[in-house]
Amino acid sequence: MAQPPGKPTAASRTTLSHIMTQADVNLLGTVHGGVIMKLVDDAAGAVAGRHSGGPAVTASMDEMVFLEPVKVGDLVHVHAQVNWTGRTSMEIGVKVLAERWNESTPATRVGTAYLVFAAVDETGKPRPVPPVLPDNDRDRRRYQEAQIRRTHRLARRREILESRRRPL
Ligand SMILES: CC(C)(COP(=O)(O)OP(=O)(O)OC[C@H]1O[C@@H](n2cnc3c(N)ncnc32)[C@H](O)[C@@H]1OP(=O)(O)O)[C@@H](O)C(=O)NCCC(=O)NCCS
Repeated sequence: MAQPPGKPTAASRTTLSHIMTQADVNLLGTVHGGVIMKLVDDAAGAVAGRHSGGPAVTASMDEMVFLEPVKVGDLVHVHAQVNWTGRTSMEIGVKVLAERWNESTPATRVGTAYLVFAAVDETGKPRPVPPVLPDNDRDRRRYQEAQIRRTHRLARRREILESRRRPL
């Protein structure tokens, strides 16, 4: 299948916002990391679907970093965008901010993540995605850095597979 025409980064950029409640907390009383990971996967999935113009599945999630605790009452904003595209896969970069309900300070960055989504057809087979066209220097830098992560992901997978073929 031919590669569709390119699309600018801005065409699929997405923000999901959610107020944290008592149902989202862990035993320490702060928000469970898994709740944030679900929001991250949802926002990234929305971006991947918008960019690729159809269904897309999570292939991997890496470098999920939690920088600060999220608390009940915080308004969490999850910003996601396509950083890079391959033939059938896309890296989505996600930034998580929290507006504290009881502080008048600017929103705090509480997490970041990088996810790879593969666009799939109705049978679940990977299908070509439009190349992303970075809008500005910041997006061009994200593209370059995503390519570095991609090289490392592939190299790590290859090395692990090779090591499994060697006797212990
Ligand atoms: C992701 C999936 C479609 C890949 O299928 P596949 O038969 O391995 O196909 P390919 O090897 O051609 O990979 C497709 C693309 O995904 C990328 N990819 C596959 N696995 C990857 C991984 N673990 N990390 C990063 N990229 C990956 C490939 O590099 C390729 O990208 P490219 O075309 O841009 O070069 C398949 O493994 C799958 O359906 N996984 C389950 C997805 C899912 O259900 N997610 C939700 C979890 S509940």
